[in-house]
Amino acid sequence: MSAGRDQVIHLLKLLQRASCKCPAHSHTYSQAPAAGKTTDYAFEMAVSNIRYGENVTKEVGMDLQNLGMKNVCVMTDKNLAQLPPVRAVLNSLIRNKINFSVYDNVRVEPTDKSFMDAIEFARKGKFDAYVAVGGGSVMDTCKAANLYASSPESDLLDFVNAPIGKGKPVTVPLNPLIAVPTTSGTGSETTGIAIFDYEELNAKTGIASRAIKPTLGLIDPLHTLHMPERVIANSGFDVLCHSLESYTALPYHMRSPCPTNPIERPTYQGSNPISDVWAKHALRIVAKYLKRAVKNPDDREARFSMHLASSFAGIGFGNAGVHLCHGMSYPISGLVKTYRAKDYNVEHPIVPHGLSVVLTSPAVFSFTASMCPERHLEAAEILGADIRTAKIKDAGLVLADTLRKFLFDLNVDDGLSAVGYTTADIPALVKGTLPQERVTKLSPRSHSEDELSCLFEASMKLY
Ligand SMILES: NC(=O)c1ccc[n+]([C@@H]2O[C@H](COP(=O)([O-])OP(=O)(O)OC[C@H]3O[C@@H](n4cnc5c(N)ncnc54)[C@H](O)[C@@H]3O)[C@@H](O)[C@H]2O)c1
Ligand SMILES: [Zn+2]
Repeated sequence: MSAGRDQVIHLLKLLQRASCKCPAHSHTYSQAPAAGKTTDYAFEMAVSNIRYGENVTKEVGMDLQNLGMKNVCVMTDKNLAQLPPVRAVLNSLIRNKINFSVYDNVRVEPTDKSFMDAIEFARKGKFDAYVAVGGGSVMDTCKAANLYASSPESDLLDFVNAPIGKGKPVTVPLNPLIAVPTTSGTGSETTGIAIFDYEELNAKTGIASRAIKPTLGLIDPLHTLHMPERVIANSGFDVLCHSLESYTALPYHMRSPCPTNPIERPTYQGSNPISDVWAKHALRIVAKYLKRAVKNPDDREARFSMHLASSFAGIGFGNAGVHLCHGMSYPISGLVKTYRAKDYNVEHPIVPHGLSVVLTSPAVFSFTASMCPERHLEAAEILGADIRTAKIKDAGLVLADTLRKFLFDLNVDDGLSAVGYTTADIPALVKGTLPQERVTKLSPRSHSEDELSCLFEASMKLY
């Protein structure tokens, strides 16, 4: 780690102190409800069915037959269409005499346009079931296709999160969707979330509804053996941030407003005792296996463990939510200039999702630690820090330091500057973060635009 380290630490210290609204960094959460608003008193765990096992993909045809499905849409991306996971799905459908059509035009890191293309295909095909074989890009696109084909009169923005979309609740029944994840990252097979880049705003947004959760996730760890080094690393960072953010999110009973009808209770509700269990367990697996999974593609124990960790974290954050790393990542991905991620077989520039969330993680957790320092220290310990002599007031710095070492060991680009951003881009990055209230409101610490600017600035260089 270079001389830049001192400057990073200086910035992180400033951030930790910056207009902290809690006297002497008290150990309580700060996002108090606005005057007159009441906070929620309940949380709900929505969990999809998952089946785990080596070669379990071969059962997908039987599942569709058991469901009585006659006309199935298989969704994937062009790269995966050439690889064994898709072949395994198609073989199972053929063996079980299921009639299917393949849509392989999913965009890696989908946009509103690519969602619409898939939706048109689904609307025309009048399918009675869907199989999504791929990473988050494929699973999310397939969820949207199923939703809008089931609600043919709806416009894309109808179900998109407010304030960007109308955030209408989903009331139509959807068709069965079986998700076969091929990355170890998003946990999308367990969540009611579908994310896309809204090109007009140059920022990601999405649909969040328990109704779009897949009917079944078929988790076949053999698929992870095909993942290139940076795909396993970046998708693993997504698991890392899902765990850390959901564990440190504002607790559900401090979120406001309290819904007057359960259908209004958001998918992302804040940290809660059940999500905590999944988040911490996923973090332990990341700590033990991510480096091994990245460094040795033949390490089946590590790759298979990371595949499960992604679902574990998905179950946790799918109900608790994520906060600032994710909220800030959406413009980092959306405003990409020319950065081309290594190992991603795509024609357009991308900052892959997992990379876009992890680059701000040292700054973010340094900033949020004062609200729940015990949780930040506990996370640092799980990730390998020796916290025996650490002071509670240094929780943020300890976790930030641990994260920077972890990222350095995994050859992560040196901050936002390494993926093409300069300080001149900070106003646009802040502007793209502001509409991400669905997640940023779950930050345990409230934040001003200036503080967001500082967080981006402190993330320009990591080492
Ligand atoms: N729905 C959710 O809950 C949720 C959560 C986090 C992220 N996301 C979204 O998911 C997307 C990112 O998904 P991702 O990280 O899973 O990656 P991805 O789906 O974008 O895929 C990345 C690349 O890896 C390739 N790939 C995937 N599996 C492979 C395998 N087994 N072998 C070889 N190559 C393989 C793909 O072809 C693609 O080129 C983003 O759009 C992000 O916003 C969604
Ligand atoms: Zn994510």
